[in-house]
Amino acid sequence: MTRVKLKHLAYVTYAVDDLNKLESFLTDFGLQTSHKTNDVLYMRGAGTDPYLYVAEKRAKPEYISLAFQVQTRGDLEVASAIAGASKIEKLNAPGGGERVRLVSPGKQVIDLVHGIAPVAALQTRQTFPLNISDTQPRKNRPVRQRAEATPVLRLGHCALWVEDGAAETAWFLKHLEMAASDYICIPGDPEPKVVGAFLRMDHGADFVEHHCILVNESINAGCHHASFEVLDMDAVFAAHEFLRTRDWSLDAGVGRHYLGSLIYDYWTDPFGNRIEHYTDSDIINDEYQPTRFVGGAEETTQWGMAPPPQFFA
Ligand SMILES: [Fe+2]
Repeated sequence: MTRVKLKHLAYVTYAVDDLNKLESFLTDFGLQTSHKTNDVLYMRGAGTDPYLYVAEKRAKPEYISLAFQVQTRGDLEVASAIAGASKIEKLNAPGGGERVRLVSPGKQVIDLVHGIAPVAALQTRQTFPLNISDTQPRKNRPVRQRAEATPVLRLGHCALWVEDGAAETAWFLKHLEMAASDYICIPGDPEPKVVGAFLRMDHGADFVEHHCILVNESINAGCHHASFEVLDMDAVFAAHEFLRTRDWSLDAGVGRHYLGSLIYDYWTDPFGNRIEHYTDSDIINDEYQPTRFVGGAEETTQWGMAPPPQFFA
């Protein structure tokens, strides 16, 4: 069966009841307003996507959907043949383009988009490679990084809450060109039971980030967090200090995860949605052997501020 080929994560969509308050938080988080009306807010990163974050004004704040850019328009045709998929629809958003909307067995709304016109990238500082013990790539170049809103580069991954982690994982792997990087399991007899999975875009021998989505079984529904890549380690820590000075709500960070090895910093937006800055993800290809992780919450952090208990609900 032909699967839909993915290019990258495109954007995440939430509903909130106060666009100005969200815009204020996301600006401090490092996104920039690209388009705003009374009803909808589009925030961009420093890359060429016209928006990475969409917020619709509604009375009831909630997570709505996640969008992937697909490789070709033909992938939209493949997607439109999936059971329950929408037809190919025009996107009424900056940059235009087209969309097919899927709804997963776990009620996750997944939009597949193509043809959105890119915008000019924004200038950012150069990255600061670390002069570590056996490799010193940064020569005659001091690090200069103030605590400030750090440029967000792109939407890197989202963690999705679902009722049945194994069924949801199977659905993603069946319809989208993804591969499982690592499985999350709970103890079981005769073998551990899969309750979630870190899924990456399956680009074969080409290296990609460890995950673009995490599917995780939960009593909750919607999105556990949306995660945005920043320039480097200095960007993560400087942004952390800046967000503290702005009195936003810290969830957990800075720390390093176990699965995927990302350096993370989680904040909570004014509507209770968790959002993450990250850098230094593992990159893997088809030679990577998936693991089956059976461990406690405390084992998911290698160092740094561990997430609070409600993070694992
Ligand atoms: Fe994350």
